[in-house]
Amino acid sequence: MEEKRQSIHGQWSSRWAFILAATGAAVGLGNVWKFPYVTGQNGGGIFVLIYLACMILIGIPLMIAEITLGRCGRQNPAFAMKTIAQENGISQRWRWAGAMMIWVGPLILTYYCVIAGWTLAYVFKAGRGLFHGIDAQQSKMIFESLIASPGSLLFWHSVIMVMTVIVVARGIEKGIEKTVNVMLPTMLVLLLTLVIYGMKSGYFMETLHYLFAPDFSELTSSGILVAMGQAFFSLSLATGTIMMYGAYLPRDASVASTAVVITLADTGVALLAGLAIFPIVFANHLEVGSGPGLIFMTLPIAFGQMPYGSFFAILFFLMLVFAAFTSTISLLEPAVAFLIEAKHFSRKQAAITTGFCVWLAGFGTIFSFNIGKNFQLFGYDFFGLLDYLTANLMLPLGGFFIAVFTAWRMKKAFLRQEMQLHNGLFFQGWYIILRYISPICILIVFAKALKII
Ligand code: PFF
Repeated sequence: MEEKRQSIHGQWSSRWAFILAATGAAVGLGNVWKFPYVTGQNGGGIFVLIYLACMILIGIPLMIAEITLGRCGRQNPAFAMKTIAQENGISQRWRWAGAMMIWVGPLILTYYCVIAGWTLAYVFKAGRGLFHGIDAQQSKMIFESLIASPGSLLFWHSVIMVMTVIVVARGIEKGIEKTVNVMLPTMLVLLLTLVIYGMKSGYFMETLHYLFAPDFSELTSSGILVAMGQAFFSLSLATGTIMMYGAYLPRDASVASTAVVITLADTGVALLAGLAIFPIVFANHLEVGSGPGLIFMTLPIAFGQMPYGSFFAILFFLMLVFAAFTSTISLLEPAVAFLIEAKHFSRKQAAITTGFCVWLAGFGTIFSFNIGKNFQLFGYDFFGLLDYLTANLMLPLGGFFIAVFTAWRMKKAFLRQEMQLHNGLFFQGWYIILRYISPICILIVFAKALKII
């Protein structure tokens, strides 16, 4: 098929470069930091089971749809949806769905950046040998003293934000592709090292049971909502990121297999993180539901006990910084592309403007761990509310719009041609899931969680 459009921002060098960049966007704090603690807060195995179901029924079909929309529209999500709507003879108001996605990325970034700052702070703590021989109590204290200090959090948050702005301002160059190329496999090896450590801890069977033997009595509608939100968050869906990255994808790449590879890699890393972290939680009698601090309180204990622990700790938290960093860049990119395409900003101006707004809004999250701890809205602190609003509400809503737009409004023949999927059966299966199962699942979960049904 002849090339219709090109993105003004360039194109990935190959399908693998895209897979790497998209996997870099997907694999991040969501897998190693968030997945274990939300699993701990929502009943273990039952949460994992629902999470996996969400990946298959919602994650993969939507990932395919988003990449296809991006590659077809080749612009920021709002313009891409508008153009595709035009070509399919449907309402151009669909651009507002794309516009919502552009907003949600920077909103997530306001807190994601703060947490990425924690990981950077931990690289330096590891470097100073602070974890050597510590017990659970000391580990907890190290973490709590970090989040109690607004100054420290602000400092690390600023460092990450400045780095993100610099990279985005320069464009996504070969440097990033190469960095991810080295960093992702190294992180995987280190994660496996921790899993092996966990296996020897004597609590590995308990962990397997906790993660893979679902206890249906722990099933709650809010747990299902969190699992769905986590699937969206972890795959970076409905933030415009995947659509934006898809816009730079060469036309001959297979969308379907690419989406499956990214989803499998992302899910694998999350499960490995669970297998690494829970043995340490059980061995040290830590609270599984202790929340966002879970990995920061558990992993240092493991590092503190293993030979060359400080070295491995530095490496591990550094990898986590990089994993987070490949995601922070991707969270900023759709908004930056929008400002360039719609308002004719230079890339540098766009990156600085969005970066500054995100940095400022990050104060809310920073203060919610210390001086603003007692400020509550709808039963959540600022960080909790932002997380709930973005991951559990805005992302599934965006996903719902993508499913309806792609499978109900776009012309089937148009879609088929855009996807270049030669396997008719696969296309048909995907189409049916995206048309009926994914949006209905999202609606039911929403309705249940909001107590409408
Ligand atoms: N998927 C990333 C993670 O799991 O850490 C977080 C994320 C990145 C969410 C980019 C959304 C996004 F657009």
